Amino acid sequence: MLIKKPEIPSSEITPERLYLSRREFIGASAVALAAGTIPAVAACDTADGAAEGAAAAPPAQQRDELTPLEDVTGYNNFYEFGTDKEDPARNAPRTLRPRPWTVVVDGLCDRPGRYAFDDFVRGVAQVDRTYRLRCVEAWSMVIPWRGIPLRDIVNRARPRAGARFVEFTTLHDPAQMPGQRRDVLDWPYVEGLRMDEAMHPLALLATGLYGRALPAQNGAPLRLVVPWKYGFKSIKSIVRIRFTDRQPRTAWNVSAPQEYGFYANVNPQVDHPRWSQARERRIGEFRRRPTLMFNGYNEVASLYSGMDLRRNY
Ligand code: MTE
Repeated sequence: MLIKKPEIPSSEITPERLYLSRREFIGASAVALAAGTIPAVAACDTADGAAEGAAAAPPAQQRDELTPLEDVTGYNNFYEFGTDKEDPARNAPRTLRPRPWTVVVDGLCDRPGRYAFDDFVRGVAQVDRTYRLRCVEAWSMVIPWRGIPLRDIVNRARPRAGARFVEFTTLHDPAQMPGQRRDVLDWPYVEGLRMDEAMHPLALLATGLYGRALPAQNGAPLRLVVPWKYGFKSIKSIVRIRFTDRQPRTAWNVSAPQEYGFYANVNPQVDHPRWSQARERRIGEFRRRPTLMFNGYNEVASLYSGMDLRRNY
């Protein structure tokens, strides 16, 4: 699928008041899409499944309603603030200080930098993207993000030829993140992408959701969103982006190597050791729905051609 660069910010097409009325939002998107005025990249919930999508994927606008803001910001995984779903909303806003915030870009690149947050995002166009988020625990949401395409940040850093992976690291500060006082994971949380994955137009560094700044519990002030992978790849509260020639040792691979591998692409055919991934519970819905390969984002399939995704997951 050809992904066009947005000419009009989708915030102008779907103003915030429409976020509040999910039916209206879906209707507006469908109409705009039909009229050719909505950028495909901003309308994953309208465009992706339809074009290159597998026959199994019904038109996405019939499937996907936005998950209510209360659920997006009240039912979270952010182990740095506790392991219950309610812990991040209860704890993160009290202790996490998203400003001042420093992001370091380093490793195998010609333009490393140490940026104050505002400088990090300056000069890069903000985009609105509504994506499905599929957690490895078999629940899912539909979230309207705002952010900057990851590839713009990669390009700005001028990675060297030897850079094959990008590694992301979460803040490590038990005073701000009290959950880091417990040995739940080998802190700090680390994630990674192969360079071509990081350059894919769908990969986003989110700075906001529902038209407002990213709440602490969702990974303020900067988190990754990789919609075709299980949610744990979407690392929160990032302080470092490093280019490397080695596959990063990610927090979950270190803690639970028997579970998922580095790629962790959504794949209904590869079960978790303890449960099936064939179906998922969309938060707010009663019946489980089928999980789609790559979470329905079939445009990424070419990144993995030649790989056995049942083995290299
Ligand atoms: N990032 C950090 N630093 N710590 C975490 O515990 N949890 C991951 C991911 N990013 C996590 C993280 C998991 S398992 C999921 S499903 C998503 O964040 C959840 O994002 P959300 O709470 O914004 O829905």
